[in-house]
Amino acid sequence: MSTVKLMPPFGVDIDLAEGVMADPDRHLVRKASAMLGHYQDADALARLIAAGDPLHYEVFEKNVPEERGQVMFCISKLEPGDVGGECFMTKGHYHTVRETAEVYLCLRGRGFMALKTADGQCLLEPMERNRLVYVPPLWAHRSINTGSEPLISFCAYPGDAGHNYGDIESEGFPKRVFTRNGKIAVV
Ligand SMILES: [Fe+2]
Repeated sequence: MSTVKLMPPFGVDIDLAEGVMADPDRHLVRKASAMLGHYQDADALARLIAAGDPLHYEVFEKNVPEERGQVMFCISKLEPGDVGGECFMTKGHYHTVRETAEVYLCLRGRGFMALKTADGQCLLEPMERNRLVYVPPLWAHRSINTGSEPLISFCAYPGDAGHNYGDIESEGFPKRVFTRNGKIAVV
């Protein structure tokens, strides 16, 4: 028997050109200090934090119950920049319910979606305006901004998916993306 409760429909205004959700209910902010352990150059990250701990990325959401049958959606906005040459990125996560997928429709900016499996496969899918990246079940994922403006995506995923950041904190991603002399290097 379904446990989903009846709720009222609602609409949301999203400026697709700017990548801005009007009137979000939740606003998640991650500054550089939230990224400890994720970049290769820990000293460069420490210097960035000491220099003012700038904004790294934001997530804007509406209130949708985090339960099976619902569709969570958000706008993800990742600032441009680098840490010792390594392009700014999100923490990355598996879904707590690993058998759940996600779509990312890129609205602005340029970069990659890095995807990895628990057995070590790792791929980089290009992200740019008007490109959708499908994240299948079982793949951890993180956004990487290789451009000079914010990388903004609209995301949608099952309500019961959840986020598991801890496994990525211990595993990391096998591929890193650097910007060197204006060129992108994948290491
Ligand atoms: Fe996700």
